[in-house]
Amino acid sequence: MSQKIYVFDTTLRDGEQVPGCQLTTDEKVMIAKELEKLGVDIIEAGFPISSPGDFRSVVEVSKAVTEPTVCALSRAVKGDIDAAAEALKFAKRPRIHTGIGASDIHIKHKFNSTRDQIIEQGVAAVKHAKKYVEDVEFYAEDSGRADLEFLARLTDAVIKAGATVVNLPDTTGYVLPNEMFERISYIMNNVPNIDKAIISMHNHNDLGLATANTIAGIQAGARQVEVTINGIGERAGNTSLEEIAMILKVHKTLGYHTNIESTMLAPISNLVSSTMRMPVQANKAIVGSNAFAHSSGIHQDGFLKHTENYEIISPQEVGVDKSLIVLTARSGRHALKHRLEKLGYKFEKAELDHIYSRFLDLADRIKEVNDKDLVLLMKETVTA
Ligand code: KIV
Ligand code: ZN
Repeated sequence: MSQKIYVFDTTLRDGEQVPGCQLTTDEKVMIAKELEKLGVDIIEAGFPISSPGDFRSVVEVSKAVTEPTVCALSRAVKGDIDAAAEALKFAKRPRIHTGIGASDIHIKHKFNSTRDQIIEQGVAAVKHAKKYVEDVEFYAEDSGRADLEFLARLTDAVIKAGATVVNLPDTTGYVLPNEMFERISYIMNNVPNIDKAIISMHNHNDLGLATANTIAGIQAGARQVEVTINGIGERAGNTSLEEIAMILKVHKTLGYHTNIESTMLAPISNLVSSTMRMPVQANKAIVGSNAFAHSSGIHQDGFLKHTENYEIISPQEVGVDKSLIVLTARSGRHALKHRLEKLGYKFEKAELDHIYSRFLDLADRIKEVNDKDLVLLMKETVTA
């Protein structure tokens, strides 16, 4: 039986921390409504103590959506938790996300604390949050670099204090996928109360491993993924929602599913990109402008013979109109003939050879040959 993976979207919190990407309350509400339609299970709407604007955004997102849980971030500090609870008061399903650093680097250099004091503070934070809401998520920041035996102790302590979800973030994007599998397996096997909470993956992309690490975490037992649209987020970003959703959909035999409506992926990617003024790289998996563009002769020929030769996902499945055949000096006769026929031209094989050699001259000069260029080329070829 396929197991459900809960999608926790943090575009509006971790994603919005990116310089230049700040959103107004109205923009956050608009994106939250689209995230609801997309089918995310949890929306992290902001960090209410951080500014009055973020507080307001959490209030308004809480009023605007009904299906997903609305989550607010707080440090393991009473004042933060109080502000998160207050901002969530209109949420149908409120969740407080509280936590503290778990690696020795953070414990020493960020908190000037000890492992035992960190456990105490984490437990106190969860207990305080529980006074307001039933659903409390605890994050053990920088857990990717934390001592595993300590992380297991911390995880068990916060679950006993009432945490419903324990987030074990690779905050610095440091861990390798095989290590992530081993680390999460260790937690699943060494935390006595593990059955009472869900383990969550929240991986940053500093080494380009966020998606691979998140999949490894799921395979080891994590059942919630913390992701953003287009993978935006601090530094090199967070795990991309669209990548995780499509990996689990394409690889059904893994035995997991999400509630994501995949045909909304490209439209919501465009919406987030334009609202946050953050362009999506052309070769970005799933939603980049080249994700369904074929440009070399070998690939175009194979694609035209059968799309599955070079596509593992149909563009329509992720809300893209159609695949593109880009005509460049690397294109072959087959792609040129296909495009010219689409434009209404008919010719013999010998004529095609001639047109093709003129096309190559043109493509060497202008790099990408579009339909207008082709029409002109055909006019010149006929009159030449
Ligand atoms: O990356 C991180 O550790 C975080 C936490 C605040 C959850 O964003
Ligand atoms: Zn983060």
